[in-house]
Amino acid sequence: MSKKTLAEELAAYGSAGFYPLHMPGHKRRLWPEDCREEGARTLQLAAGMDITEIDGFDNLHEPEGILKEGMELAARLYGADSAFYSVNGSTAGILTAISAAVPKGGRLLMARNCHRSVYHAAYLRDLELSYLYPETLPDIGLAGAVTPKQVEEGLAACPDAAAVLVVSPTYDGVTADICGIAKAVHKKPGCVLIVDAAHGAHFGFHPDFPESPVRLGADLTVVSLHKTLPSMTQTALLLARGNRVNPGKLRFFDDIYQTSSPSYVLMASMDACLKTLEEKGARLWDKFFSDREDFLQKTEGLQGLRTFTAGRMYGADRGIFDPKAVFSMDPGKILIETSKTCLTGKQFYDILLRRYHLQPEMAAGNYVTAIMTCCDDKEGWDRLQAALARLEKEFPARPTRRHKERPPYPFLPYGCSLREALEAPREKVELSGAAGRIAGAFLNLYPPGIPLAVPGERLTREAVELIMGYRQQNLPLTGVDGGAITILKQN
Ligand SMILES: Cc1ncc(COP(=O)(O)O)c(C=O)c1O
Repeated sequence: MSKKTLAEELAAYGSAGFYPLHMPGHKRRLWPEDCREEGARTLQLAAGMDITEIDGFDNLHEPEGILKEGMELAARLYGADSAFYSVNGSTAGILTAISAAVPKGGRLLMARNCHRSVYHAAYLRDLELSYLYPETLPDIGLAGAVTPKQVEEGLAACPDAAAVLVVSPTYDGVTADICGIAKAVHKKPGCVLIVDAAHGAHFGFHPDFPESPVRLGADLTVVSLHKTLPSMTQTALLLARGNRVNPGKLRFFDDIYQTSSPSYVLMASMDACLKTLEEKGARLWDKFFSDREDFLQKTEGLQGLRTFTAGRMYGADRGIFDPKAVFSMDPGKILIETSKTCLTGKQFYDILLRRYHLQPEMAAGNYVTAIMTCCDDKEGWDRLQAALARLEKEFPARPTRRHKERPPYPFLPYGCSLREALEAPREKVELSGAAGRIAGAFLNLYPPGIPLAVPGERLTREAVELIMGYRQQNLPLTGVDGGAITILKQN
């Protein structure tokens, strides 16, 4: 194991007097002599480390040195047999995992609440998709987790499925029973379990977090280091365990989906993050759990703006989570539910942002999601708690519920395959008149990037109403252009 981190090696190299006759074009300086701008100066620290595959710094596509060591460390830390760095986020990890596990034109059994990268992989590899619909948790309108029973039944109905893909934890922090799901998948010879754990890179690193899917039996697990750990945006890992997936295929597709010019700044960030995990282990989160406990105690009595997170799921008045549907929840996700007040999730999000300068991760119809990590300080927890205490007085709980309960993702009947829909002649129509037509483009709430409608699905009246409702609430929709959406042309 190299004694220095990649960042230290890069810093030392930067001051060792080597002149760069190579990419990147900024030559470790970022701005030409005569246009030194303040903005560029702030990036200088990163630019000083931003090199390409020069001598002594290994090659992501054929790793033999410091990058290989970093990936071996990642595999050891997560309990995997092998790990691949991704500088294209979990997106590239998911494309690689699916491409390696399912033959071209094969079938993937997947949770319907998957990120759009899963659908993009299906399009690129011309896959047949069968869906598992997680139950909606009543009251809050939150997608739950796919269960082992659903997977067993799904596999019985689709005996040709080459792989099963589930999301755990979800964008909202809901985690599935991966152990039970792995048992169900592995009853079928050769079938592969892929877990999109983009939001769970921290799992398994503290006893109060759920275990990492790798150790619970997943064959392929994808984690975004950048989402919940001290690592830079775009950094992620693909982790492989067991012998169900050919390592050569993983390498082959990883080579295709990763840029041929991977950023050393990003790779140095992954390397430093992994070394921090190795050196500090669970201690890294001790302060997080102590600050979180304090926050939970102080927000315990709130009746209007209720917080939902691990450990606060089944309390007296809070029996809205069905323990059979939800296996557990990520302590790092704090959901603040608004349906007992007069506020929608988006209105509450805007108040937190504008009045309190607190930028939440996401607003949904009935709640706002906050991501908390080991890098949060006490001030962050306290500011959120103080804002909730003040807003609870301004927007107290009301006796009647304001919102209708709706599933967050509509069930839509099959119209044609994803590929057919994306390659057929298409046209735009007003959303309000689209019921009964087949979607010709993805309709997403972004974040979280889970399709409300997948190309090829037939739009129902209920789905159109749901999407129009999201529009009225000003939630961020992609695929709706001034009220019009893309659908297949009718013959
Ligand atoms: C569940 C899930 N999977 C995968 C991704 C893609 O991750 P990345 O942004 O690291 O490519 C996201 C992004 O938000 C996500 O929410």
